Amino acid sequence: MIITVAIDGPAAAGKGTISKAVAAHFGFAHLDTGLLYRAVGAKVRAGADPVAAAQMLDPRDLEDDGLRTPAAAQAASEIAVIAEVRSALVAFQRNFAARDGGAVLDGRDIGTVICPDAPVKLFVTASAECRAERRFNELVGKGMEITLDQVLADVKIRDARDRNRAEAPLVAADDAVEIDTSDMTIEQAIAAAIEAVRSALGIC
Ligand code: DC
Repeated sequence: MIITVAIDGPAAAGKGTISKAVAAHFGFAHLDTGLLYRAVGAKVRAGADPVAAAQMLDPRDLEDDGLRTPAAAQAASEIAVIAEVRSALVAFQRNFAARDGGAVLDGRDIGTVICPDAPVKLFVTASAECRAERRFNELVGKGMEITLDQVLADVKIRDARDRNRAEAPLVAADDAVEIDTSDMTIEQAIAAAIEAVRSALGIC
């Protein structure tokens, strides 16, 4: 059965954790579409042409741990404004969404552009300050030397670029259920997302 769960939202709102948990709960496959853009961004930083890098992207490119750094995130956000880069990545995402057995895709434009007919759409958000604090704790936990102010500035720059670009800007689909995780624990956010998916799919 083809069931697509589209989960969009700004950087560090908890989409990744929520998407993984929703996928595990319902036994669906999960694709973090940000990794596609991060992998293209990494190739561009290494000297590749953005459109060629997107056209030649290999699923194995997504397994690089180096894609999780703030520099990779900014590079991803920069190449994500290029229309030809985005269109080169559409087929991979739609094929993933159409797999048998259910799929959760998280990103910025899943419910609006990639899978506008998805039966379940969530928009996961939180204040910029909350998102920066969570990302800061995560990066410090990984041993990175960075300040909260730097992380907050990064989050704001990425938000502005993702929301204001001409091509597939970050915006909630009209029919998305919004989950603001600012005042939620991660367990509460996961429970709210699972409940929203259940209700949209009509599962008791
Ligand atoms: O979800 P993330 O933080 O890993 O995404 C990194 C960047 O990639 C994000 O700032 C914008 C871009 N992106 C996008 O434009 N569309 C998506 N579906 C996913 C990510």
